[in-house]
Amino acid sequence: MSAVFEIHNLAKFNWEAGAQGESRYLFSRISAEITKPERVALIGASGQGKSTLLRILALLDIPDEGDLLLNGASFKNSNPREWRMAVAYVAQQAVMLPGSIEDNLRTISRLHGQPYDAALGAQLMEQLGLDHLDLAKKAEDCSGGEKQRISLIRTLLLRPSILLLDEATASLDIDSTRKVEALLMNRHKEEGTTLIWVTHDLEQAHRISNRTWVIDKGGMQEYSSAAFFDQPVGGAVHS
Ligand SMILES: Nc1ncnc2c1ncn2[C@@H]1O[C@H](COP(=O)(O)OP(=O)(O)OP(=O)(O)O)[C@@H](O)[C@H]1O
Ligand SMILES: [Mg+2]
Repeated sequence: MSAVFEIHNLAKFNWEAGAQGESRYLFSRISAEITKPERVALIGASGQGKSTLLRILALLDIPDEGDLLLNGASFKNSNPREWRMAVAYVAQQAVMLPGSIEDNLRTISRLHGQPYDAALGAQLMEQLGLDHLDLAKKAEDCSGGEKQRISLIRTLLLRPSILLLDEATASLDIDSTRKVEALLMNRHKEEGTTLIWVTHDLEQAHRISNRTWVIDKGGMQEYSSAAFFDQPVGGAVHS
């Protein structure tokens, strides 16, 4: 299901403002509009606020200025739990809930009042190369890369319209990375899921996106990925 998502003049104050000439804002005047299913690569140097921005988009943190609208309704008048089902964040550091892998898959659905779709869970586990895992295994005992994929599957079970991916393949080998990319591209195509994907891997950004948002010096610029990656427009960031 696709959604119209608007970001209007979003800003977050810098909590280090004033120290050693730090600016007042971590970022400010960030605007963008998603009116149809998109694949966005969000890139920028470490510490520019990419994770903070994604967390704000999922209402896990609050903006200090500006507004966010989902299907025309401001976040200020929205139920955060319902919002997070539609605009779902997959964290940079996967945190497992207590219990087994299956508990992890079930709990997120339960917390959101959704029936657990066991068939979809099994299908996603297989597509991400996790079908060899015993669902009764303690989630905490899984490897970093396994946890990262379980956390992605947990979120996909909610069928969000906008999926916020924070370095979703950072702990994965090439084979698993390609599986995640293929699965997410497929979800975009089949279900109209919008992907907003933070990555430091510019080749990945090129592969998975049609638009590129560059966050730099407290602002954000938008490019068509074809223009950004094939022409020297993004030269400073490419280097
Ligand atoms: N209000 C704020 N909210 C969050 N981070 C803030 C704030 N003010 C200053 N900061 C600093 O800005 C940086 C933001 O970090 P964030 O994790 O969003 O960056 P990032 O672009 O995701 O980096 P990385 O690529 O390393 O993951 C941190 O160094 C944090 O201490
Ligand atoms: Mg980050």
